[in-house]
Parts: sequence; C-alpha cells; structure tokens
Amino acid sequence: MNALSISGLSKTYGNSVHALKGIDLCVPEGDFFALLGPNGAGKSTAIGIISSLVNKTSGTVKVFDQDIDESAEAAKARIGLVPQEFNFNVFEPVLPTLLNVAGYNGIERPEALKRAEYYLKKLDLWDKRKTPSRQLSGGMKRRLMIARALIHEPKLLILDEPTAGVDLEIRRSMWSFLKELNEQHGTTIILTTHYLEEAEALCRNVAIIDGGKIIEQGAVAQLLSRSMLETFVLDTQDPINDLSTLGPFTVRQRDQSSIEVDVPKGHTLNELFSLLSEHSVKVTSLRNKTNRLEEFFLRLVNSEAGKKS
Ligand SMILES: Nc1ncnc2c1ncn2[C@@H]1O[C@H](COP(=O)(O)OP(=O)(O)OP(=O)(O)O)[C@@H](O)[C@H]1O
Ligand SMILES: [Mg+2]
Repeated sequence: MNALSISGLSKTYGNSVHALKGIDLCVPEGDFFALLGPNGAGKSTAIGIISSLVNKTSGTVKVFDQDIDESAEAAKARIGLVPQEFNFNVFEPVLPTLLNVAGYNGIERPEALKRAEYYLKKLDLWDKRKTPSRQLSGGMKRRLMIARALIHEPKLLILDEPTAGVDLEIRRSMWSFLKELNEQHGTTIILTTHYLEEAEALCRNVAIIDGGKIIEQGAVAQLLSRSMLETFVLDTQDPINDLSTLGPFTVRQRDQSSIEVDVPKGHTLNELFSLLSEHSVKVTSLRNKTNRLEEFFLRLVNSEAGKKS
C-alpha cells in the first residue's frame, strides 16, 4: 500500500501565485522519503494540503488509501505533522502541550502520560517537562514539535525542515531517532530539508520540486549513480601552477597549494593520483567539495533555471 498518493495536485493562492502546478507523487508504506527543492518551490504548500491545513485547487491526495476530501478525519488520524514554523502556545509547559494534544486525539490520560514520558525521554526533553515552551532553545522547540506529532502514534510522519537551525550534535541524535522510528516501528517518514547530506544519510527515495513541478524523483542511490562527475579538493605539499587539465580531469586552482579536480564518471582517483605524481605533485589531503547529492541537486536546479531564462 502507498502511505501517500498524490495525483494532479495544484494550488493557486489568492494572490494568483501558482505554488503547485500539477504534481504526482507516491510514497510507499515504510519509506523514508525526502522532498527537496529551493526556497519557494512549493514543499510546504504540498505538506499543508496533505495535512488539510491548506485547501488545494485541484487534484487528489490519499493517505493510506483515505482520500483527504472523502475521509478527512481518517486521513488526518494517520498523519503526524512537524510544521516548518513553531506553532504552539508558548506559555504552556512541555508536558501539558503533549497531554492536551493527546486529549484532543481521544487518548486516555494514563496512556497519554506513558507516551509523553516515552517520547520526551527519547527526545531528551524529559527534564524540561515543566518548562513553558517559550523558555526552550530553538533545537528543543523542534524536538517538542516532533514529540507532539508522534503522541497519537501516526503511521505517516511528515517533517517540514525539522533540523533547520539545529546544531550538529542534536541533528545527529534526531537522525538516529528518526531512523529508529522508521526501521523499528515501521513509521513512514517524509521530510523536507535544505541539508542535502541529511537526505543522503537518511532517505531511500527523493523527489525534487522546483517552481511547483516535480523535476526529478527516484531512489537516492539511483540518482547518485547518474551523477556525471564528482569534485574533490586536494591540498598539495608545494605550490602548483599551470595545471588546468590532467588527462580526463579538469583542474582549478583554489589558492597557492590547493586545487579542485572534477573526476568524471568512469575514472578513478588512482588514475588522478598517478597523473599527479607524474607531475611531481604531492597531495597532503583530499576531500569531497560538496556532498554528492548536493552536487546533483545544484546541477539539476541550475539547469532548470537555465531553461527558464
Ligand atoms: N499563504 C500564502 N499566500 C500566498 N502565497 C503563498 C502562501 N504560502 C506560500 N505562498 C507562495 O507559494 C510558493 C511556494 O511556497 P512554499 O512555502 O510552499 O515553498 P517551500 O518550498 O516550502 O519554500 P521554503 O524552502 O522557503 O520553505 C511561494 O511562491 C510562496 O511565496
Ligand atoms: Mg517551506
């Protein structure tokens, strides 16, 4: 079964902005799915429609086979939403925030307390249970929104930029929590993010949306294998000059003792290193310029921009 099936979805806001121009999307049950795209692409609009916060202009949306128009309550019950903007009562302490949402969802008090304790401990917020949310840091507020979205144990969790502004350590712990939720509890997860390494580390499938249209979708591994080249940054022991090509490799000087090298698909770093050593270049360190998915994404979005202009 699909956790989510969207067909011909479009949205025109009152100000005539065509935020979605007919998108089709399927997310299988159990998937970990990334919806990627530049600012203003239409990601939050799509998420708003799926979770019945925004009215669509046309198209159909089904959540575990429940049509959001015909079976609105059933569809909503299956979704946990972590919105892009903080939207809780900032004066309410952490624990009551969860208990009230649980009550709204018809969960009995003892069960609600059990779940609240479980998720707050998992998300490292239990010590803050009596703190009003306005006194939480940004990263803690994000985690509270995740706990709140999970309190009714939805089968589909949708997170709109859950790790925006979250420090590296907390981000990693959120990743492992989400992975566990997906792998051990079978929760289907859809997230949007501008951190492409996040999508690469977590997600199996991805759709890239730009200007209200899906411009690419598929398995992360399959998209990466289509990436035509990878760029590396090499630090060299001595300054080097006059090295713009090296066999199949394009070389750009970054500064006196570092270069950027494009390695086309089908060529190896071994070939590059033997050519460099023929030129007596000694390499002291090597790293990827950007992560691979990021490179793929930038090429794709830039080529779309090129088509428009
Ligand atoms: N309530 C609204 N009224 C009018 N236009 C809107 C509204 N919300 C969004 N838009 C417009 O719809 C388009 C898509 O916005 P959306 O918020 O869906 O993008 P996004 O992909 O989530 O971007 P970001 O990465 O910045 O969060 C943008 O042009 C935006 O200005
Ligand atoms: Mg958004």
